[in-house]
Amino acid sequence: MCCMAAGMACHIGILTVSDRVSRGEYADRGGPAIDDYLTDVLSSPWKAVARVVPDELPRVCDALCDMVDNAGCCLVITTGGTGPAPRDITPEATESVCQKMMPGFGELMRQVSLQKVPTAILSRQTAGIRGTCLIVNLPGQPRAIVECLDAVFPAIPYCLDLIGGPYLTTREPRLVAYRPKKPKK
Ligand code: MTE
Repeated sequence: MCCMAAGMACHIGILTVSDRVSRGEYADRGGPAIDDYLTDVLSSPWKAVARVVPDELPRVCDALCDMVDNAGCCLVITTGGTGPAPRDITPEATESVCQKMMPGFGELMRQVSLQKVPTAILSRQTAGIRGTCLIVNLPGQPRAIVECLDAVFPAIPYCLDLIGGPYLTTREPRLVAYRPKKPKK
């Protein structure tokens, strides 16, 4: 049964991928910024499933699989590890756990980010589908979070409709979810 129909909060994963945050050398700023964003834009009930892992492929893959398969997340948003540095492997982890990639997310986020910083092209951020969950990568810079999510979030509720996820609603006019038509049941 759809969690919205049951009046239950859907689970949304927030995964911070950072060696330094996982070692306790830095406070996690990206994860809380994603939580703040979701609190700001979502009107349907949701519950955060937040984790921090180092930039290690098996750790990122395991965290993504656990959040989707065991915690039942309908959406997982990652922050960090999307760049060109040797330890940046979040897009590879995302691709390896997804059945289907959604390259339009990365294309749009780079396009809007490029209006802000010339280094936006250094992010290999992408998105993909694992089962009935959408996984979206964001860069590690906390200021990138609102910029990137404002660009792609209008399409996320309909994407979840199409993959069999819960029916998300947003606080208008802050964010208007675009649904071209009712999804087939
Ligand atoms: N996108 C936005 N909107 N704002 C930013 O500051 N930083 C860029 C890029 N995309 C940035 C951005 C930089 S400098 C890098 S190296 C890449 O994201 C990858 O960042 P990550 O490895 O922390 O994911």
